[in-house]
Amino acid sequence: MTHIDNSRRQFLHYAAASALAASLPGFSWAEDREMRQTPNPAFNADVEIALTAQAADVSIRPGPQTHVFKYQGKLLKGPPETVKVLPGYLGPILNFQHGQKVRIFFYNELPEPCVTHWHGMHVPQIMDGHPMYAILKGEQYIYEFEVKNPAGTNWYHSHTHELTATQVYQGLAGLITISDEHEQKLDLPSGEYDIPLIIQDRSFTSSNQFRYMLGMHQRMTGFMGDTLLINGQENGIIPVKTRAYRIRVLNGSNARIYKLGWNDGTPMTAIATDGGLLQRPETFPYIMLAPAERVELWVDFSGREVGSELILQSLPYQGSAHRGMGGGMGRMGMMAGVGQNETLSIARFHIAEHVGESPKLPAELVAMRRLTLKDCTDSDKVVPIAIGMRHMGFQLNGRTFDMLNYQAAEKIPVNTIQRIRIFHENRGMGRGMGGGMGGMGMMMSQPHPIHLHGQQFQILSRRQPNRDDGYDSVKEGFITSGWKDTVLVMPGEEVEIIKPFNEYTGLFLYHCHNLEHEDMGMMRNFFVS
Ligand code: C2O
Ligand code: CU
Ligand code: CU
Repeated sequence: MTHIDNSRRQFLHYAAASALAASLPGFSWAEDREMRQTPNPAFNADVEIALTAQAADVSIRPGPQTHVFKYQGKLLKGPPETVKVLPGYLGPILNFQHGQKVRIFFYNELPEPCVTHWHGMHVPQIMDGHPMYAILKGEQYIYEFEVKNPAGTNWYHSHTHELTATQVYQGLAGLITISDEHEQKLDLPSGEYDIPLIIQDRSFTSSNQFRYMLGMHQRMTGFMGDTLLINGQENGIIPVKTRAYRIRVLNGSNARIYKLGWNDGTPMTAIATDGGLLQRPETFPYIMLAPAERVELWVDFSGREVGSELILQSLPYQGSAHRGMGGGMGRMGMMAGVGQNETLSIARFHIAEHVGESPKLPAELVAMRRLTLKDCTDSDKVVPIAIGMRHMGFQLNGRTFDMLNYQAAEKIPVNTIQRIRIFHENRGMGRGMGGGMGGMGMMMSQPHPIHLHGQQFQILSRRQPNRDDGYDSVKEGFITSGWKDTVLVMPGEEVEIIKPFNEYTGLFLYHCHNLEHEDMGMMRNFFVS
């Protein structure tokens, strides 16, 4: 993609957006543009950060440096621990406190348009990084928001129209942590015992450059790299002491879904999901982690021998509904890599030092109210998110992404709580069909991590109506009790969620977080008004 293509395309989008924006009730494009280029004098920022997206060369693995896109961050105001720079290509970790007012001066120094989204955070439309707000090289965008989310782990990444997958792949992502007083009372492992674990897959050329090749199959499944990186580095060995750790895991991959498990069969103990801490710790034999999902693990290395290792793996699973089906179909599913046939090593925890004391896992974490149908503003109404496919492309609610467009079913009254059903349109169409339908069946039977912008939601139910041995290989790995912003919807599965839409009006995206699917148009707007 050349610069000229992108600039021209961007110009067209600006033109189209400003014309269309005139038709959005209560929306002034000019006023809006003014707002995002001048700091608001009434907004008393506690934290100010300069964040620049730029090209860079960094060391990721032995040998030549890799050419990447990288967020460079600089703290201008606020507590010194707010910006923590990482080696490698990822942006700095941004450590926020609940209630802080944050101002971020975002500069685009890339040869293509860019916009940044604060994934998981509840912020106004104009601060949310909608692709209509992309800026060109040399331009500035001022983000101002109050941190309203509770303690937990979020992230930020590029959300540029049709360039999200390539820009995130080239490095435009970073972690966000939020702390609050409820969390501080719990005395969870902190400092060096609180570890980020950002998992991404990449492929490299022989001269260590990122390779992004999408053949026919990867166009459908999304990009699958052959090398797993942790926190932007190839070396996956992490030295630890014989005590408890808090490990914040983010799947920052474009498309790869991990089935996380310990190599010695130790159960996984989760203390937080996308939206923050769970009510109480929960254990699982393994945990499914799709792109954009976070899980915080409590890992206690007490009693382990110095010199030994505990390995975080991704275990085999079947991601398509076609296992056991004959002939071409089974093979297509496998070739497409929708499941994962081998065990992958993600990170090796090397027990390097003995220490005597370790904090104890709290029995209760934070108070959380379970939402039920009774909490819905209108429990007879179900907002649909239908996953479908037409013309070799994925769709949501029968449409592909269209910058400012929303349909009647995508209009949500502000300050309501909605019941939302995510399901596969034409369910079953891919099953039992031979011959020419093989390719189509395979595509329709893919898992999709569905993400909704704005406030976090809760999961009401997951239903897999068809007996399916692919599903058996993943079904014990879903955390359904916590706050979420992304939910993995398996082939044939139907997931109901309940989501508040409080306070902010405007366009809020919902989309598949398989970034190749997203860029292909598997994204839509909710218009909250
Ligand atoms: Cu992680 Cu719409 O984004
Ligand atoms: Cu998001
Ligand atoms: Cu998808």
